[in-house]
Amino acid sequence: MHPPEQMLSPSQVTDHCHAFLSDCARSIDLCAETPVLADIAKRLRSQVATKKPKPFDANPLPALANLSLVKDMALAKRFQMFAPGLPWDYSPRTSDEGTELAVCDFGKVLDMDGLDVGVIYVDCHREYPLHNHPPHELYFLVSGTAKWRYGQHLDYESLTAGNLIHNEPNDWHGVIAGHTPVLALYAQWC
Ligand SMILES: [Fe+2]
Repeated sequence: MHPPEQMLSPSQVTDHCHAFLSDCARSIDLCAETPVLADIAKRLRSQVATKKPKPFDANPLPALANLSLVKDMALAKRFQMFAPGLPWDYSPRTSDEGTELAVCDFGKVLDMDGLDVGVIYVDCHREYPLHNHPPHELYFLVSGTAKWRYGQHLDYESLTAGNLIHNEPNDWHGVIAGHTPVLALYAQWC
């Protein structure tokens, strides 16, 4: 990807990340239709409120080449500003080496104290493969109209930014991006 015009310092990235997570937690709280999801929103707000920064190095990956297309809502536009400064990783679920998918564990930026929180980024027309796992997982869709399989559904369904998904333990889930990238916050808990 092209280098940003002005690279933010890690402390600036941390501040943006903190504000982004606070707003995500507020949005999840507003969208939560079950006590379980409302409780996760509360846990996220409380973890973010303590704001314990951790040292990290920026690691922008080639998958972020279409980051400028992530703009379905104000949260997504804010994310664009600081995303290149985050410590991105390859997805362990593919062998693309960061050319199609990127994952950022926010536990590398802020001490989340037991709550596993981050973002997945899936470039245009790419797929985050179908998978399952024992922990519950919430996805808050920040940008991208895409086909998601989730929960007890056996088929993929088109969802847009603003939706909240809850996968119970071992529910199969995955996403296929459309003509803009998918950006989604995730939280996993047992
Ligand atoms: Fe998952």
